Amino acid sequence: MKINCSVYIATSLDGFIAKPDGNIEWLHDPSFTIEGEDFGYSDYMGSIDALIMGRNTFEQVLTFGDWPYQKPVIVLSSKSLNITEELEEKVHLTGGSPVEILDWATKKFGYKSFYIDGGTTIQRFLSASLIDQLTITKIPVILGQGIPLFDKIANDLRLELIDLIKFENGFVQLIYQPKYK
Ligand SMILES: NC(=O)c1ccc[n+]([C@@H]2O[C@H](COP(=O)([O-])OP(=O)(O)OC[C@H]3O[C@@H](n4cnc5c(N)ncnc54)[C@H](OP(=O)(O)O)[C@@H]3O)[C@@H](O)[C@H]2O)c1
Repeated sequence: MKINCSVYIATSLDGFIAKPDGNIEWLHDPSFTIEGEDFGYSDYMGSIDALIMGRNTFEQVLTFGDWPYQKPVIVLSSKSLNITEELEEKVHLTGGSPVEILDWATKKFGYKSFYIDGGTTIQRFLSASLIDQLTITKIPVILGQGIPLFDKIANDLRLELIDLIKFENGFVQLIYQPKYK
């Protein structure tokens, strides 16, 4: 069974996915809104079976109030987390190596296509050569400091640029496929 893992994420021009405290309000600056444009998000969400996200991203999502996902969410943590009754059916908690996590999710639920989310989580899946495609939307803002999308990696990773889309609000979306050795 072919498993597909992909990333859909936004970064500042200097490569941060959030401010040092996890804040992502800079992403939702009203001046970035383009009427009727979702930057490919709905099509992308329609293409995946489930999300796999790190605990830090999950905790940030919980601050939004309303649960934003229609698809099941697998939250990764080495700790036990309190999942509210409302989310019990929608959120599954697990941990382990990326290979073990995918194995568990495919056997238990039959999912084949995963949205990998959260900086550390993406780095771990990339290091395990498990990310098939990355859609990175560069936001025209420099934060100076924050949580990086890419931190330390053991070896250089070459990527193939599949597409580049420029939006009138200054967003630039880059679609890459890693070229693992
Ligand atoms: N700009 C964007 O589009 C975007 C998208 C997503 C997220 N974000 C932001 O990015 C920030 C979070 O990113 P992050 O790099 O801090 O981390 P993250 O990947 O969301 O979470 C990292 C945590 O996930 C757990 N984890 C990850 N892999 C695991 C594994 N294989 N097994 C067990 N646990 C595992 C660990 O939690 P434990 O310590 O509990 O073990 C780890 O500390 C948030 O502020 C979020 O809002 C931004």
